[in-house]
Amino acid sequence: MAGGQMTAFKERVFSGVQPTGNLHLGNYLGAIRRFVQLQEERDCIYCVVDLHAITAQLVQPDLRSQTREVTAAFLAAGIDARRHIVFNQSQVPAHAELSWIFDCVARIGWLNRMTQFKEMAGKDRENASVGLFAYPCLMAADILVYRATHVPVGEDQKQHLELTRDIAQKFNNDFAGPITERGFTEGYFPLTEPLIGGPAARVMSLRDGTKKMSKSDPSDNSRINLTDDADAIAQKIRKAKTDPEALPSEEAGLAARPEADNLVGIYAGLADQTKAEVLAGYGNAQFSTFKSALVDLAVAKLGPIGQEMTRLVADPGHIDAVLADGAERAAAIAEETMRDVKDIVGLIRR
Ligand code: AMP
Ligand code: TRP
Repeated sequence: MAGGQMTAFKERVFSGVQPTGNLHLGNYLGAIRRFVQLQEERDCIYCVVDLHAITAQLVQPDLRSQTREVTAAFLAAGIDARRHIVFNQSQVPAHAELSWIFDCVARIGWLNRMTQFKEMAGKDRENASVGLFAYPCLMAADILVYRATHVPVGEDQKQHLELTRDIAQKFNNDFAGPITERGFTEGYFPLTEPLIGGPAARVMSLRDGTKKMSKSDPSDNSRINLTDDADAIAQKIRKAKTDPEALPSEEAGLAARPEADNLVGIYAGLADQTKAEVLAGYGNAQFSTFKSALVDLAVAKLGPIGQEMTRLVADPGHIDAVLADGAERAAAIAEETMRDVKDIVGLIRR
């Protein structure tokens, strides 16, 4: 691009969790635990995405308390809200503002391919909210309003992150050249990298190893909630579905055994090991033995988090103060991006 200058991006991590109740082991291993690890390496912004929570159902009677509960989970798991940023999405209006711009960048055909929309809308697509359809554009805005370079998420969000890259790329192509007052030129938005992986990127239901562990599963025994006490954790693991064979000693032996694979993956995630390392210790063990070890590990790792969450939610004033402080610092970054975007698109701004 003539006169163009490639934008250099500061490395920044962003991720979001919906305040839709029942935070579970999948959310912890697939997302929150990794949020904690990343804060040693980069600047991180972690968001409770309340505007996403209302796409499936506008009226959420417990929205405020759920927002505080996810915030409490972030803090209890070890996210440092002073060094990094923790806030709720609706307190920073730039998310919704940039989302509108992205609604005009993304194509209907792109959104039509989103599997999460198809699953959520079910057969009655005509009756799904426009917000549910446009959900991935808001998600792209969450990430790109901070020009975040890395996004840790579970496997189920992979397609949304590909769409985020498509939106960034199309925006960058459509508006190339030196345009903003601050001198940005080619490639205003980064092509954000997903950070998906590890043994627990997709934690499955304890009742059915072919179904994702989910907040909305009607069976509470299908998931371990972060607020479950030691007895509940033990009972759910003991009741978890298994097959009659002993554990294999090699990872390949898990291939056609979804429940065994899931429990080994959970153990590996909690112990910070690979599945192969877990099987090196428990190959040929019966499930009764392995489940006892898993109960001890899960209670040791999750018990303190659940207790700290309970302590934190008892003081909503403190949580709200953390969120307000985070929102102020997030808004400062986001508003700068919106100024550039308005310059680039040609919107007269104040
Ligand atoms: P959500 O509750 O849908 O906002 O999800 C919050 C985060 O948890 C996202 O990064 C998801 O990808 C992740 N997540 C949700 N369910 C699972 C699961 N069963 N296994 C692994 N990660 C998950
Ligand atoms: N869609 C994500 C989920 O359901 C939540 C989310 C919203 C998110 N905005 C985000 C995740 C931005 C990562 C980055 O899990």
